[in-house]
Amino acid sequence: MAVVFIRLALQFAMKILVCTAKEQEGWRAALADQLPEANIYVGHDAPSCDYAVVWKPPDNIFDSQRSLKALFSLGAGVNRLLAYPSLPQDLPLVRMEDCGMAAQMVEYALYVALRHYRRMPFYEQAQLNGHWSPQPLRLRSEFHISVLGLGVLGGSVARALADFGFTVSGWSRSPKSLPGVRCGHGISELEAILSGSHAVFLLLPLTSETAGLINRRRLEQLPIGSVVANLSRGEVVDDGALLSALDGWRVAEAHLDVFEHEPLAPGHPYWTHPRVSLTPHIAALTPYQVAAGQVAEKIRRLQAGDKVSGVVDRARGY
Ligand code: NAP
Ligand code: GLV
Repeated sequence: MAVVFIRLALQFAMKILVCTAKEQEGWRAALADQLPEANIYVGHDAPSCDYAVVWKPPDNIFDSQRSLKALFSLGAGVNRLLAYPSLPQDLPLVRMEDCGMAAQMVEYALYVALRHYRRMPFYEQAQLNGHWSPQPLRLRSEFHISVLGLGVLGGSVARALADFGFTVSGWSRSPKSLPGVRCGHGISELEAILSGSHAVFLLLPLTSETAGLINRRRLEQLPIGSVVANLSRGEVVDDGALLSALDGWRVAEAHLDVFEHEPLAPGHPYWTHPRVSLTPHIAALTPYQVAAGQVAEKIRRLQAGDKVSGVVDRARGY
């Protein structure tokens, strides 16, 4: 009797699939902790599940997972998942919202902003040349930064930079209002924002509208000697245009965390360019210890028939 009861309980318990190349066991344990009533499966040979929590799953995952009620992306960006040909049109896709990533983006952006506002590349070169060459004081408010993308991550970055005393402009798709940040929106306002920026931080999702947005024409709108930091997706920047802008000193330094093809191919000019600083897509990692709590809470709400935030708008692409 007890065995039958246990079998029935297992059969009717909620089933969650975790499919990610990294930290799969950590995710499984964290979700099991948060949702003790659920059966958590890892890898791709799981039974048909109610929910899946994924990052770069196998291409055919939706052929075997046909009963999903929602799909959770382990990341904030969903461009890769949206490109799966077999992703069912009506399956709600839920992305990560912050989960500790905003603080990491703020750290990265502050590091880049401080490096350039304090003219560290200039002093590094002066040291190499044996020059003692103090430069005039520059006030924080005289260093102008723009943040393209004012969502969960970009909004936090823009606010933190403004709180630090920099002059910050932000840009989004729809009108926004953020304390201390001059906000613009829509393509018609981008040029004015770029033309006044000593540093530009990209925190946009990759969509049909943002692919190639930072092209030759937009880079030419920047003042000579600007800094570009791409923390979003490689495809937002036209690589050839950026390399030309670097070579012409329109862009003095580029900080790149993301690339169209990752890992970045050996021999790519970014690897050895003296004024490119690159990191391997680590600007903001998803801490499963925090993120599992967010996923569990949303699953509970969905089970109760409630709405959740972070559902991707398929038409917008983010
Ligand atoms: P989000 O909350 O969805 O915010 C996206 C922002 O971009 C919004 O402000 C949105 O405008 C704006 N936007 C979208 N399309 C636009 C367009 N065509 N023109 C102008 N603005 C546009 O996303 P998030 O959580 O901040 O994440 C942003 C991106 O960061 C992710 O999509 C991902 O690609 C990237 N990311 C990278 C890492 C890393 O480690 N490098 C880590 C996490 C995330 P509205 O406010 O008007 O909607
Ligand atoms: C990482 O790139 C993410 O989208 O969370």
